[in-house]
Amino acid sequence: MNTSVFTKNIKITYFRPMETVVSGIRSTGNLHLGNYYGAIQNFVKMQHEYNCYFFIADLHSLTTHPTPADLHGNVKQVLIEYLAAGIDPEKSTIYVQSDVPEVAELYLYLNMNAYLGELERSTSFKDKVRTQPDNVNAGLLTYPVLMAADIIIHKAVKVPVGKDQEQHLEMSRTFANRFNRLYNTEYFPEPYAFNFSENLVKIPGLDGKGKMGKSEGEGNAVYLSDSPEVIRKKVMKAVTDSGPTTENQEKPDEIQNLFDLMKVVSAPDTYKHFDDLYNSCQIRYGDLKKQLGEDIIVATSPIRDRIKDISTDPSYLRQVARHGAIKARESAARTIKEVREIIGFRNF
Ligand code: TYM
Repeated sequence: MNTSVFTKNIKITYFRPMETVVSGIRSTGNLHLGNYYGAIQNFVKMQHEYNCYFFIADLHSLTTHPTPADLHGNVKQVLIEYLAAGIDPEKSTIYVQSDVPEVAELYLYLNMNAYLGELERSTSFKDKVRTQPDNVNAGLLTYPVLMAADIIIHKAVKVPVGKDQEQHLEMSRTFANRFNRLYNTEYFPEPYAFNFSENLVKIPGLDGKGKMGKSEGEGNAVYLSDSPEVIRKKVMKAVTDSGPTTENQEKPDEIQNLFDLMKVVSAPDTYKHFDDLYNSCQIRYGDLKKQLGEDIIVATSPIRDRIKDISTDPSYLRQVARHGAIKARESAARTIKEVREIIGFRNF
């Protein structure tokens, strides 16, 4: 955005350089409503106002050891779904993380300056230790370092993500600042988690327990590619209780989750209608779920249709990925060249 200031007859124009935005999604399966409302919806809006880099985090997905065929299929699927959801390759740089080896180089440098204690304290690492004790690999431990490299390689300041990534962003700032301090420079700016509304979003799952996620078990997540029949079935199976017994009573988690979902996919009037019914103890959960299912179908139908179209055009996908890789590497190579100089590597 440019602002003009007139002083007598001289017009001075100040240019505000476009801020840089980076975000990514792991290639671990189809994208769900959590990915869409927590991240992608913001990507689509931001691409009109910022210098945006959106990537497919295939290196991050290696922590779970996918087969080559699964890895390839998942990367392609995320690319299709990015485009179907409205990320425009003319406006944003869309790329596959492993196409930009400079990210891995910066990850190595940042690792020298990331400490075991702080990495072990990361909530997501502790969760993985608990849920997959047989596969606590070093990639999981240093996952937030790779994330920091992804972000600061383009010197991004805004990172559109869901609530679950907040701590990772805090760690990214720590690693960026530590690099700056070590080399007595202000080279890397501080990146912050971003959402257009005031708060970062957490979309709940349908199992009544916690957030919607790819690995939270069958029936927890509604995928953007799910057919209307599958959506109806999943929503009708969502966990509920036996209903409120006193007026205006607090909603238990599983019910609050359904209302939270309704808040993002349904019209405000619809939300209010069911909220009033709940508060007056007249709610019928079957009706609520039916409405929620139909509203999810309406919200996701245009994306689902585009997923089908784009899937049939492999040459377009190849073109988008190649073009994105060139643009992302240009930016990343510039940073790595300067980082190498700052660290003290010299060409002889
Ligand atoms: P991932 O693949 O788990 O999720 C991708 C994005 O979707 C958001 N998200 C949610 N938001 C709200 N409610 C939910 N239930 C929900 N589930 C997922 C996540 O917050 C995220 O924004 N580490 C990242 C990928 C990554 C990255 C990065 C992100 C790698 N490098 C650099 C930003 C910048 C991850 O695992 O996201």
